[in-house]
Amino acid sequence: MQRRPLLAGNWKMHTTIAEAEKLAAAILQSPIPTDRDVMLAPPFTALNAVSRTLSGSSVILGAQNVCWEVKGAFTGEISPPMLKDAGCSMVIIGHSERRHIFAENDEMINKRVNGALHHGLIPVLCIGETLDERQADQTFKVLEKQLRNGLNGISLENGEQLIVAYEPVWAIGTGKTATVEQAQEVHLFLRDLLAVIYEKNIASQIRILYGGSVTPDNVDELMSQNDVDGALVGGAALKAESFNLIINFKK
Ligand code: PGA
Repeated sequence: MQRRPLLAGNWKMHTTIAEAEKLAAAILQSPIPTDRDVMLAPPFTALNAVSRTLSGSSVILGAQNVCWEVKGAFTGEISPPMLKDAGCSMVIIGHSERRHIFAENDEMINKRVNGALHHGLIPVLCIGETLDERQADQTFKVLEKQLRNGLNGISLENGEQLIVAYEPVWAIGTGKTATVEQAQEVHLFLRDLLAVIYEKNIASQIRILYGGSVTPDNVDELMSQNDVDGALVGGAALKAESFNLIINFKK
């Protein structure tokens, strides 16, 4: 099964509207190979402006979180139709910073995934173990729980409706990347688990991204692994030069 590689930039809480437009425009400056997808996830405030910058290009707009409700008294939240209105077609859900800094739990994350899918947004469901969990040999147990709970009760028509991102918490923003063997081992485990939760056909279509200190220097090796279908990039996505090198990873 050939899965289209996806290179996704998570801008986190960076960029003013003007900076976001400039960064998106700079990323569009170099041609994007036609055999891969690129997604940019600016902060909410810049979504609409970046959507205009990206119009006419193949680059996909994503958001960094989404509520499960459509509208109402949910101060501080943004609904799926609002994201679609701003031009988004993907949304990052359950990022480790949401889980660890803002106490989002699996149940909430599951509702967000459900809400996104219900409104035709592709969720990028993030999961990952902490250093303590890895050292205590709990990695697979933790990932299984996060994946099963995050997808609880969620049915899929095909595997293209969902993206999973494996982001070991100890590798995010630390300069420590999982080795390619560690990444491949986890990705294969996740794909096998997705085949149990759904079915083999669907699991073989679901793109599984790796995230955590991805740079132009390590992207080729990571992308050479069978079950690594893309990268979710933080720090290195904030500069057009480095993100463009990542987009142009060599197969
Ligand atoms: P990083 O962040 O590339 O800066 O490690 C990745 C992420 O948090 O998505």
